[in-house]
Amino acid sequence: MSIHTEVKKITTNTLQKMKAAGEKISMITAYDYSFAKIFDAAGIDIILVGDSASNVMAGHETTLPITLDQMIYHAASVVRGIDRCFVVVDLPFGSYQGNSKEALHSAIRIMKETGGHSIKLEGGQEVVESIKRIVDTGIPVMGHLGLTPQSIYKFGTYAVRAKEEAEAEKLKKDALLLQEAGCFGIVLEKIPATLAGEVSRSLSIPTIGIGAGGACDGQVLVMHDMLGINVEFKPRFLRQYLNMYEQVTGAVQQYVKDVKSNDFPNESEQY
Ligand code: KIV
Repeated sequence: MSIHTEVKKITTNTLQKMKAAGEKISMITAYDYSFAKIFDAAGIDIILVGDSASNVMAGHETTLPITLDQMIYHAASVVRGIDRCFVVVDLPFGSYQGNSKEALHSAIRIMKETGGHSIKLEGGQEVVESIKRIVDTGIPVMGHLGLTPQSIYKFGTYAVRAKEEAEAEKLKKDALLLQEAGCFGIVLEKIPATLAGEVSRSLSIPTIGIGAGGACDGQVLVMHDMLGINVEFKPRFLRQYLNMYEQVTGAVQQYVKDVKSNDFPNESEQY
């Protein structure tokens, strides 16, 4: 039996044990009650209430506009749908970068107002002080290195990060700093697979990759991408498990037809 099926609830301890045992960790994003309920029942280990909600739920071009109040709304909805998985909630842009006091205040709001189990924030050495302060308060923190979408205007592109030696070296150092600061795990986004493998082996905490290859301790995908709701986004790292866009379009087209032709509702569908 696997560690993931043995436990009643997934905790940071479970994730740690999974890493030690070489058992891969599955993570997916969710932003509402109904999908969270399905993902939890399907056996997902971690739900990430990502600030990608800014893109896939609100239609913004970047993750920058979403507010702390909006993240709290999404996270509280997700938590009401789950029973056993671990919930990570993104601290949105502008809610933690100012100073460690602001970061702690935002993290406490997430924990108190959503019932989520941990927070995630982007960055390395520059957010270490904030991470320590949040962890010292008893809040589990997940780090996020590599492509960090909240810094998109600094990078200017969503291309693969840390291909050059200097950036790869900084990323390796940052990963160790985040572990020392008390992070229980780190998301590695869009970096070369060999680098992600090296980082994963150098850490005792799990790494969760997105576009970072198979040597990470777990994988995360944005639900709208893997379920084919958002079919325009086709990066190389994405495996699309469903074409919901096509299926939902077909269902709604049929519904429109049935209403127009007076086929719906029929005798048995009315009182
Ligand atoms: O916001 C998000 O969905 C994320 C994942 C891409 C890791 O941070």
